[in-house]
Amino acid sequence: MTKTNSIIFYFIVVLELILTEIQLSDGSELIIRRPRANLTHVPKDLPLATTTLDISQNNISVLQASDIILLLKLRVLMMSYNRLQCLDIGVFKFNPELEYLDLSHNELRVISCHSTANFKHLDLSFNAFDALPICKEFGDMSQLEFLGLSGTKLQNSSVQPIAHLNMSKVLLVLGDTYGEKEDPGSLQHISTRILHIVFPVKREFNFILDVSVSTVVNLELSNIKCVVEDSEASYFLRALSKLGKNERLSNLTLNNVETTWNSFMGILQCVWHTPVKYFSISNMKLQGELEPRDFNYSDTSLKALSIYQVVSNAFSLSQNYLYSIFSNMNIQNFTVSGTRMLHMLCPSQVSPFQHLDFTDNLLTDLVFKDCRNLIELKTLILQKNQLKKLENTILMSAEMTSLQELDISQNSLSYGGGGSLCSWTQSLLVLNLSSNMLTDSVFRCLPPKVKVLDLHNNRIMSIPKDVTHLQALQELNVASNSLTDLPGCGAFSSLSVLVIEHNLVSHPSADFFQSCQKIRSITAGNNPFQCTCELREFVKNMGQVSGEVVEGWPDLYTCDSPASARGTPLQDFHMSPLSCNTVLLIVTIGVTLLVLAAIVAFLCLCFDLPWYLRMVFQWTQTRHRARNTPVEELQRDFQFHAFVSYSGHDSAWVKNELLPNLEKDGIRVCLHERNFVPGKSIVENIIHFIEKSYKSIFVLSPHFIQSEWCHYELCFAHHNLFHEGSDNLILILLEPIPQYSIPSNYHKLKTLMARRTYLEWPTEKSKHGLFWANLRAAINVKLVNQAEAMCHIQR
Ligand SMILES: *[C@@H]1O[C@H](CO)[C@@H](O)[C@H](O)[C@H]1NC(C)=O
Ligand SMILES: *[C@@H]1O[C@H](CO)[C@@H](O)[C@H](O)[C@H]1NC(C)=O
Repeated sequence: MTKTNSIIFYFIVVLELILTEIQLSDGSELIIRRPRANLTHVPKDLPLATTTLDISQNNISVLQASDIILLLKLRVLMMSYNRLQCLDIGVFKFNPELEYLDLSHNELRVISCHSTANFKHLDLSFNAFDALPICKEFGDMSQLEFLGLSGTKLQNSSVQPIAHLNMSKVLLVLGDTYGEKEDPGSLQHISTRILHIVFPVKREFNFILDVSVSTVVNLELSNIKCVVEDSEASYFLRALSKLGKNERLSNLTLNNVETTWNSFMGILQCVWHTPVKYFSISNMKLQGELEPRDFNYSDTSLKALSIYQVVSNAFSLSQNYLYSIFSNMNIQNFTVSGTRMLHMLCPSQVSPFQHLDFTDNLLTDLVFKDCRNLIELKTLILQKNQLKKLENTILMSAEMTSLQELDISQNSLSYGGGGSLCSWTQSLLVLNLSSNMLTDSVFRCLPPKVKVLDLHNNRIMSIPKDVTHLQALQELNVASNSLTDLPGCGAFSSLSVLVIEHNLVSHPSADFFQSCQKIRSITAGNNPFQCTCELREFVKNMGQVSGEVVEGWPDLYTCDSPASARGTPLQDFHMSPLSCNTVLLIVTIGVTLLVLAAIVAFLCLCFDLPWYLRMVFQWTQTRHRARNTPVEELQRDFQFHAFVSYSGHDSAWVKNELLPNLEKDGIRVCLHERNFVPGKSIVENIIHFIEKSYKSIFVLSPHFIQSEWCHYELCFAHHNLFHEGSDNLILILLEPIPQYSIPSNYHKLKTLMARRTYLEWPTEKSKHGLFWANLRAAINVKLVNQAEAMCHIQR
């Protein structure tokens, strides 16, 4: 070992220790995928912790130890579809964890071997190897589960080194130049449960290859061309007939088969007498004519035959012969799918068929018409055929007394239902009627015990009220129809799964959850919900049960109208309870009014609100009037601001309350008691002082009315003292005056009282402030030039 080499070696050992440490503490996955990235080399920038590396479908032609030496945790390396030509398995010696290596579809010709014990999956298939790439070191791979190999020569290869390995699956790809008549028996040493052999494409099968490998349970053969009709000369039929030697063989699958009708029947007949239980053929091209020959059904292990995707270029086939061979098969499961088969006959005697799958053919309503021999049949799949009238299918089912599952989806079925007998077989539990042309009428005749009913993608507009009662129905799929409401569960008392997405449900009934107590799952998204008051209850119910019950909630449930709410998730759609409930609205308004009335009543009772309102109103009125008073009027030279007239009985109030309150503001007050000129008549005095005063105040009380008012009535009568529109008059109501106590000839007083333009003296002290303010406002004098505020006594 050179010096540099040993340094690198120690470096790696140390690194390995460090990383092993890391791995112990963190076993997480790091997956790096760079497929189809036009890489020509393994990328250099890979994280050291990479556990899975996918660089398939690139142009990488070299894989060196230095490319992956630092990826000590690499477990999976996928490099299929690259351009590797040679490989030294030694490059992986620093990747101790590597267990999955896919190098299929490269151009590998040679490999250099190295012991790698950890591989579980090693795929070297679809490469350019001559001999199978099996080194003696492969014998160490005791954990190997999958081995993919390819080669053109078997006779030079020995599978001896891996003979002791018990593998699950071996894939063997034989290259195009794989010669004829080579190495019989060499495969016998392989020990695997599943063997898949891919033969060269487009070459007549003329290999002497013993595929009856004794450990194989599952044999798959791809690319079989067998157009030589002579069964003696047919290498393929000979290879098949050897299968009988392996008693363990249970599954046989043929892919990409090109053969003649006669050889196909030969293959069937051959397999019929092998230990194979499950036989499947897919992608078959058939040519030539079919010569009717007897088919020997006896002595078979076969349970299931599946035939998928058949193209035939034969035009005049004796079809009935073929159908009768098929229909009389003594097996349980039979699948014919994607074959353009037109018909299937009724078995001529009671048939052991349990599961028939005729998906994607051209079968018509005539299939199994009046057929009484399918009494074992449990499943019948007629998906994607040419069925037209459901009535015929119903009649067909009537004879199938064990039928539990019927799939007639993707046909063109319609149902008139008029008068015909509803004779569904009683045993039916699962009925798939999806993707047909059925309308509401289909609900008039359904199998009475059906548990699962799929009616999606039809033309149903509503579920009629008189539907057949389906007590057992658990799952109902009516998606992609034109339903406008959710069905109630009246007729479907066991319903637990409902799918009703992509319909026209705009306002679903809110009582759905009440009616459908057993519902476990509802899928109702993608409907044009109308977000109005009616939807609120439903949304509330959905919200409550959502999560495990409502599929797709909340994302797939949005408002469609009104336009303003379009696209809003139902979950976020809120309408106030008030705007949706008329009774509630009326009650609320009523209650509000009541409360208001109560507050007003309370204020009136406790705080005498009307009095305050009146005072404030009067005050604002006077302020308003004052502003409109002509300036000349204000400027007239008055001796007094106010002349006050009152009864002697009330003089105490006038002296103790009125005078102090007015005079403190500098208002000149003239009292008739104080200022009257003796000698003049009372009326003359009154007129005199009223003329000299800006305002006249009368303190009204019953006493005043009785003793004083007569004078004023006279004054009013004889002099135009208070001309119309003048508001020089201020009435203070000191005590209430009952209307009846006013003498009938006091016209002026009556009109004044009636106008209620008086100020009431409040008994409560708290109201006095407002009273005085009102009074002062009514007197309305500019007090600036009132310095000489004195009451002149006129004599
Ligand atoms: C037949 O087919 C049914 C349904 O696909 C399956 O459950 C059953 O196991 C099959 N039986 C056999 C014997 O293959
Ligand atoms: C009915 O058949 C359709 C295909 O035609 C399939 O997608 C669907 O799942 C089936 N329904 C049931 C309940 O099996």
